[in-house]
Amino acid sequence: MKRIGVLTSGGDSPGMNAAIRAVVRSGIYQGLDVYGIYRGFKGLIEGSIQPLTLRSVGNIIHRGGTILFSARCEEFETEEGQHKAIAQLKKLGIHGLVVIGGDGSFRGAERLSQKGVATIGIPGTIDNDIAGTEYTIGFDTAVNTVIEALDKIRDSASSHDRIFVVEVMGRDTGKIALWAGLAGGAESIIVPEMPIQVEEVWARLERSRASGKNHSIILVTEGTNSAAEVVDELKQRNLDIRMTVLGHIQRGGVPTALDRVLASKMGAKAVECLRQGASGEMIAIQKNELIHLPFAKAREQAKPSVEPMLELAKMLSI
Ligand code: F6P
Repeated sequence: MKRIGVLTSGGDSPGMNAAIRAVVRSGIYQGLDVYGIYRGFKGLIEGSIQPLTLRSVGNIIHRGGTILFSARCEEFETEEGQHKAIAQLKKLGIHGLVVIGGDGSFRGAERLSQKGVATIGIPGTIDNDIAGTEYTIGFDTAVNTVIEALDKIRDSASSHDRIFVVEVMGRDTGKIALWAGLAGGAESIIVPEMPIQVEEVWARLERSRASGKNHSIILVTEGTNSAAEVVDELKQRNLDIRMTVLGHIQRGGVPTALDRVLASKMGAKAVECLRQGASGEMIAIQKNELIHLPFAKAREQAKPSVEPMLELAKMLSI
């Protein structure tokens, strides 16, 4: 393999640039030509592909977002779209591809691999929701962004004896809420894996008040039990309550050391895997070790239960 490509797809996440840098620099170090594909699979279909140099990835390790841009692409889900993408790669003699993104992006990578293009996935999403890996690039930064916001909200909540309902991202998983809630001392955490009745939140608020705590932060994940729903129900009980939806600020910002290191290791490992002839696989962290495993095998692996962490947070926030 002489020539490889790299793209970012799906929601951007802090640390993706560090991963791109690692793919480009470790690839060039080992004698490969590395091409950047702009705007994910959409750019691949359209042929938006440029060679990257050592210098084109300079000064990006500390930047959030992705210098390769990202996009969601319905056309790539069709056979025709995939054939167009493969034709673009063939035209440039690109035989290997590193796809940085979430599980939707991995499905695309797997299709290409089944059609003969060597592909390796790097898990990049703030949600940390990909089966087979304990960490995804961007999760740590997003959690720290939420903690910073919670610390500030707490100043105001405690000054006014108020209840705050704060909504975070996470799609179908409450990992961001759980980690940020535990680290930020949220009084209640609501996650999609274990939706609850607002009655339970109310009971916790009453118990807190009885023990002398007059402010409270309720952290919820978007989707089930959204902040707006929780606020509506609690408002009926005459509470002084405010809502903050953190939204896309969780996707941006300077990546933490953990995300930069993870991204650098995963980027270099992806190139190594391609050079060794692997395809249809993802890079992952399991038990603190950097590994690679087939997409299909990763999908079969159970995602760890949120329950123990949720119980710990409950116990420590009484
Ligand atoms: O997957 C990352 C994520 O930020 C989710 O947490 C969220 O549900 C979704 O993307 C938002 O997507 P978009 O930026 O397309 O609105």
